[in-house]
Amino acid sequence: MILAANWKMYLNENDSKEFIKKMHLESDIFEEKNIMIFPSHSSIRTVKNNSNLPNMIIGMQDCSEILDGAFTGENSISSINIDACIVGHSERRNNFNESNETIEKKLNNSLKCVKNTILCIGEKKEEKERNETYHVIEEQLSILPKDLQGSRLIIAYEPVWSIGTGLVPTNEYISDILSFVKKYLKELYSSEICEDILLFYGGSVDEENIKKLSEISLLNGFLVGSASCKFEKFKKMIKAI
Ligand code: 13P
Repeated sequence: MILAANWKMYLNENDSKEFIKKMHLESDIFEEKNIMIFPSHSSIRTVKNNSNLPNMIIGMQDCSEILDGAFTGENSISSINIDACIVGHSERRNNFNESNETIEKKLNNSLKCVKNTILCIGEKKEEKERNETYHVIEEQLSILPKDLQGSRLIIAYEPVWSIGTGLVPTNEYISDILSFVKKYLKELYSSEICEDILLFYGGSVDEENIKKLSEISLLNGFLVGSASCKFEKFKKMIKAI
């Protein structure tokens, strides 16, 4: 199991540094685990400079759809050496109106430039209520390149109605969605390629529910927001997986 911490805009540079220092003080707990940390862009350098846990991957929460040029304020994926990038997070889709077309460009940049790419997918509450979940997911997956090359691909299923709400789907619900994703991938790619694609769940994961969620057989990891920013909660989650 992999625990990916999406720190969103919760932790500033000092907070991020303190967090990493605490991890190193208890490195015996963390060094054997597979951890991904996504600090805010301005804290990536500090996190990188202060960490030497062997299994820890550091990445960007998002990247520009453009690689370079006159684009004030944008963060190119090639602006800093990182090993992972998240694209298509629902907070980008919904708060910044990112279309599937934009996310496709980001996805391709990430696949080309870094070792691990997380593509987030998931339905909104109203889409779920209209029974459109599978349709939405299919559309979000439709940007996957037919010829998958470059980084390891991770699909993170994050139902929008679960993010930051404390509402967590049942294990059965998540399993059904992941099976659908798996089937979609099998139709698109060879079995060798499919074996390398990982599936994550995200949405109100915390130290209380992570153990139960870990029972989902198709799951390879979690993408955690707010609970991953609190050191004690993070530690408990790491111990539970
Ligand atoms: P929460 O864990 O805060 O619900 O956020 C999930 C998420 O958006 C991770 O990317």
